Amino acid sequence: MSLVLPGERPRRLRSTSAIRRLVRENRLHPADLILPVFVREGIEEDVDISSMPGVVQHTRASLLEAAREALALGVGGLMVFGVPEHRDAIGSGATDPNGILNLALADLRAEFGESLVLMADLCLDEFTDHGHCGVLTATGTVDNDATLQRYAQMAVAQAEAGAHVVGPSGMMDGQVAVIRAALDEAGHTDVVILAYTAKYASAYYGPFREAVGSTLQGNRATYQQDPANRRESARELRLDLEQGADLVMVKPAGPYLDVLSDVAHHSDVPVAAYQVSGEYAQIEAAAQLGWLDRKRTVLESLQSIKRAGADVILTYYAADVARWIEDSESP
Ligand code: PBG
Repeated sequence: MSLVLPGERPRRLRSTSAIRRLVRENRLHPADLILPVFVREGIEEDVDISSMPGVVQHTRASLLEAAREALALGVGGLMVFGVPEHRDAIGSGATDPNGILNLALADLRAEFGESLVLMADLCLDEFTDHGHCGVLTATGTVDNDATLQRYAQMAVAQAEAGAHVVGPSGMMDGQVAVIRAALDEAGHTDVVILAYTAKYASAYYGPFREAVGSTLQGNRATYQQDPANRRESARELRLDLEQGADLVMVKPAGPYLDVLSDVAHHSDVPVAAYQVSGEYAQIEAAAQLGWLDRKRTVLESLQSIKRAGADVILTYYAADVARWIEDSESP
């Protein structure tokens, strides 16, 4: 006589690869993935980012090449970050139509039109000489409301350059409402706002600082969230939804799956998650040492983000995963 009752055999559904495939609850698909990319002013050739092996700072030309490849692979879109040659106190390059980010957006929109979702990072940190996400007061703190005015101008500049989606990532209070009003007033009612809703002050952004040549001294703890807090994200979500966010995002992703799950349960708009530079660097480093199987770890990390509730995932692995997707149905 069996020691196990007939209804207590979950292994039955794991017995063949075909059955596992049939009952799999979540699937990664290239269309749900966004590839973050960096474009740098004043370089003739791509520059490697040492803490993100395989990721580069692009020239305008090589960015188009990378975008062609991503599109051919079926990747859903790009999130574009600009790395300017010159920076100043108010981040002038962010609103200049000839600033590197806006030029790159215009290049991409001219070539790809509506075939690829074009997202722009809407934040001042890449463009300010102090490296903060906003403008500073006389005493050196980040001035929320003065920053909002810069974000409003930046949103319009990005929309005019051709962005379909703007992604305010500075965690200023009121940013979604101010950006929505500015876009609408300029006639860009169709431009989507992807709000960085729950964005934590994270050590996992470390390699990104190299990627954008950040000059930041200190930290972003007065505007980004405390990693110890979970309930606070419910408040950020409520505020972003009230202000008209079209998509909401949790960032980083892997270390914040509890927050992602909360947001996914309570949001009535699509939810994105950003697998950030440090999450990428961890996997790459361990894989280089032979300590982790790169492909399996990447797929599992993304599958977990999906399982926690993300509809859209921003990941530096987007093109890799799209290439692997056919055999992502693990054995
Ligand atoms: C702000 C911004 C950052 C990242 C995306 N947008 C840096 C920060 O907030 O310090 C980090 C992305 C990553 O680490 O991959 N412009």
